[in-house]
Amino acid sequence: MSIYKLYVVLVFYPVLVYSKEVVNLNKICDILSENSNRRCYIKENLASLVHSPNQLAFSSVTNTLYFGFDSGQGEYLPAVYNIDTKKLTVLRGVKDAFAMASDTNEVYFGGSYGIYRYSPILKSLKRLGVSNLDIWWIQVKSKIYFIKFPSLRLYYYENRKIKPVPQLRNTTINQFVFDSDDNIFFINGTGLFGVKNDSTDIIFIKNNPRFHCIAVDISGHVHLCSDDGVYVIGKMLQKVKKIYNINGVLGMTFDKDNNLIYSDSHDIIRLRPLSSHEY
Ligand SMILES: *[C@@H]1O[C@H](CO)[C@@H](O)[C@H](O)[C@H]1NC(C)=O
Ligand SMILES: *[C@@H]1O[C@H](CO)[C@@H](O)[C@H](O)[C@H]1NC(C)=O
Ligand SMILES: *[C@@H]1O[C@H](CO)[C@@H](O)[C@H](O)[C@H]1NC(C)=O
Repeated sequence: MSIYKLYVVLVFYPVLVYSKEVVNLNKICDILSENSNRRCYIKENLASLVHSPNQLAFSSVTNTLYFGFDSGQGEYLPAVYNIDTKKLTVLRGVKDAFAMASDTNEVYFGGSYGIYRYSPILKSLKRLGVSNLDIWWIQVKSKIYFIKFPSLRLYYYENRKIKPVPQLRNTTINQFVFDSDDNIFFINGTGLFGVKNDSTDIIFIKNNPRFHCIAVDISGHVHLCSDDGVYVIGKMLQKVKKIYNINGVLGMTFDKDNNLIYSDSHDIIRLRPLSSHEY
């Protein structure tokens, strides 16, 4: 225990440059959403990092943000940022937290040692009893779905067994999410694709711009990031429109009020809308 504690202290401080004790509000109207009712946002810097994560998860029950950071030892440690207290801590006991996701009550971590389930309320951590599992990406929608590394194939966990998602058995997937109707959207080196719930057809949606990350907001809308901004998929599958002009987004999640939280190469930022009388 004490050895582990020392290890955390040693690796944690060089990696996280600082975490602001006080909310630092960037009171600049620096981002405009691209939709018809234009809004101004302020960037709230939650943490600054040397190695930024490309996967973030948010737990609404405890108002905390989770992200993995490179320990410098080839493994990712899960950091926990409490939005209310502004405190940043490391969750102990997870050996590698590269991938992360949350559902209503739990947070899931995936990496070279398989999958962990963490309950922030009970503060209990469990590792799923599956060995030889290297996780690249994880999502939870009634079941645990994940992409294995290095094959980049999609599987799910049910009755202590790992099963492939049949219609995507032969497809390379970099990241995926479920929307509110349980349709699957995924990105790979070719572009953005969708698979309707109960259908076996893989629908090609778009390959321009090139999308690097995908996330679903709390109302089930699918967001994507590319070099030049953040996009959202409309109800008509072919409509993918830009909503934020932000460069260099690496990963995204949403807080309990559905504000976008994203990482870029240095920072983790929350975008908060300003009402018109504030600017
Ligand atoms: C996946 O590939 C196998 C072997 O090539 C083939 O038999 C199977 O039909 C394919 N499945 C799908 C869903 O394309
Ligand atoms: C998706 O398909 C499953 C299996 O048929 C069904 O039980 C479920 O209700 C569907 N979900 C939605 C949101 O339509
Ligand atoms: C992405 O997925 C599509 C649909 O299954 C597939 O045709 C394509 O080969 C995949 N791209 C890569 C780079 O694997």
